[in-house]
Amino acid sequence: MSAASIVFALLFYAATAVLVGGLAWRIADYARTPAPLKIPTTPAPITRGGVALRMAREVVFFESLFKGSLWTWLFGWLFHASLALVLARHLRYFTEPVWGWVVLVQPLGILAAFGMLAGLAGLLARRVLVDRIRYISTPSDYLMLVLLGLIAVSGLLMKYVVRTDVVAVKAYFLGLMRLDWQPLPADPVLYVHLALVAALMIVFPYSKLLHAPGVFFSPSRNQVDDPRDARHLAPWAARLDRS
Ligand code: HEM
Repeated sequence: MSAASIVFALLFYAATAVLVGGLAWRIADYARTPAPLKIPTTPAPITRGGVALRMAREVVFFESLFKGSLWTWLFGWLFHASLALVLARHLRYFTEPVWGWVVLVQPLGILAAFGMLAGLAGLLARRVLVDRIRYISTPSDYLMLVLLGLIAVSGLLMKYVVRTDVVAVKAYFLGLMRLDWQPLPADPVLYVHLALVAALMIVFPYSKLLHAPGVFFSPSRNQVDDPRDARHLAPWAARLDRS
């Protein structure tokens, strides 16, 4: 077993712990945060079912972004939809036998790698070319786009230029999951791909990428528009109200 195999094994255990623990921590924090005001963005649904539908449209189609900025929506949606397909394609490294739908999605996943890059390029161009967006952009805004872009480029390099032994990569990750460590192929581009992925996992719970779980806790999206039917009280205010 090479030193690199051991270093990456420890790195991925640590990165998974940070990602899962960090996300659980942040989500618990979001769930505890009171929403003292009734502030759904109107026109808003007047039933819980309607809110669920609105949230589904937001998560799947990025509805409010579509209404807000067509270009940002186009590149943002392209990036996220492609990312979902790329991740689905990667499930083959973590499952044995590979699920039927994951087999079906394989060719789409490769197309999506290019879609992901195109989306990221568009979002980066927006930050650089649109004056008012450049003005409010911070280093972390650029960092996330570049990090995701480098992950995609190193992945595509492995697919088309410097191939790696994908069967051995799969054995390695299944081995990590089953606590039965296997050797990792000694390919520099694979090392780069995996190191960047681990970095992404580690920064996720502390970065802007938290908008993914965060959207579900947004009061302007998840509240029912019923202030004329029922008095709205945040849990802490209800306690004061009783005393
Ligand atoms: C531990 C997790 C990961 C492993 C083991 C892994 C491994 C690999 C390997 C071996 C390839 C080459 C595939 C081939 O030659 O057919 C690849 C490609 C790729 N990876 Fe990853 N990767 C991981 C995570 C990610 C993540 C999180 C992203 C996106 C944010 C990503 C994006 C890509 C892309 C876009 C490609 C090129 C298209 C493809 O072949 O699927 N990878 N990855």
